[in-house]
Amino acid sequence: MTDELAERAIAILRENDRGIYTVPTKGLYPFQWNWDSCLTALGQRHFDEARAWTEIETLFAHQWPDGMVPHIVFHVYDDGYFPGPEVWSTGRPVATSGITQPAVAGFAVRRLWERATDRAAADARARALLPKVAAWHRWFFSHRDPGGEGLAAILHPWEAGRDNSIDWDEAFDRVPTDGIAPYTRRDTQHANPAHRPTKAQYDRYLWLVEHFRGLGWDNAKLHDASPFQVVDPGFNGILLRACADLAALAGALGDTGIADENRAFAERGLAAMEGLWSDAHGQYLCRDRTTGRLIDSASSGGLLAAFAAIPAARAGAIAGTVARLGREARYIVPSHDPADPRFEPARYWRGPVWLVVNYMIADGLRVAGQPAAADAITASSLDLIRESGFAEYYDPMTGEPLGGSTFTWTAAMVLEFLKG
Ligand code: GLC
Repeated sequence: MTDELAERAIAILRENDRGIYTVPTKGLYPFQWNWDSCLTALGQRHFDEARAWTEIETLFAHQWPDGMVPHIVFHVYDDGYFPGPEVWSTGRPVATSGITQPAVAGFAVRRLWERATDRAAADARARALLPKVAAWHRWFFSHRDPGGEGLAAILHPWEAGRDNSIDWDEAFDRVPTDGIAPYTRRDTQHANPAHRPTKAQYDRYLWLVEHFRGLGWDNAKLHDASPFQVVDPGFNGILLRACADLAALAGALGDTGIADENRAFAERGLAAMEGLWSDAHGQYLCRDRTTGRLIDSASSGGLLAAFAAIPAARAGAIAGTVARLGREARYIVPSHDPADPRFEPARYWRGPVWLVVNYMIADGLRVAGQPAAADAITASSLDLIRESGFAEYYDPMTGEPLGGSTFTWTAAMVLEFLKG
């Protein structure tokens, strides 16, 4: 069974491979996505290590001069996706979007390097990526943390990768919708509209894109000009883990400058993360930077923070919360607490289980000395695969597969869960 699952996962990664990058799934997402690619490389390394490095190198070949790594690279024209390159209009040589996504590359590069079998190739390829990943980390702290609090804000829900999370609702209410150009969604032609974001949310996604485009995608201006600035513990947990991993990798490769800089980012950020902790929820919460207030929304973002080296007591509490969620839902980890009346088990990031999030929470909890919680998450993830196939996301109550199918990063995570 295990071998058969691994074979199916490899077949999906091959089927979605476009040579130097992998599409998340055919139809719904026909381009290269940032955090998808980095996590996909972790799956690819199990059957083609050289190809895994290429996946990340292709992404970084489209890094902006200011250091940002965009959330989508539009390698080839495809009108099956909206908003396409003409809406973003970022003026890049190969079209890209103008926002970023969770900075998981530093973690992925370290893991590829550490577990590589071709040492010489791994050293050379990691060494070449090192300054690029470091420039991206620097970009987060200069352009998304102008006040120097140690944590980066997202300026668009798509940057968190958890597009329509309940976390954004309150802050999103303040984003206007007037003046946006008429548009036709494409996602609802590929997937059930009841499992996707609403029109009210899409209008606001587009208002922000048009607003930033009007500012010429100048990252020196975007932060202060954005009505949406949220400090997400999941997004920052990934960034801080990546900083610590990059520091370790740079140290091993003899680049003390990058090592010291990233160790300092990680330490400062972890101290600041304490301000996001909620005893009442047993997890971290988002903070709305425009009001300074914590957002009362228990999503998986506040558990994902455990991917970083949070204090042991916090990791213990998060393990307890995961156990509680396991009593409320048949499959863990739901993207939102089922006890919250706003929970929607089938709507995208408002309830469903996502395997990439499971993988990162499990990894963090294992490192933090919480193997039982990590094992429970891994077991639940593999149950979903066996029962429902390689879907984009799953209903935590029924296990129903939702969104796209034969999904790339889901397949990659299965290989990691099985072969580690
Ligand atoms: C959706 C997800 C995002 C992911 C993308 C491609 O937009 O919310 O996290 O990167 O699909 O899979």
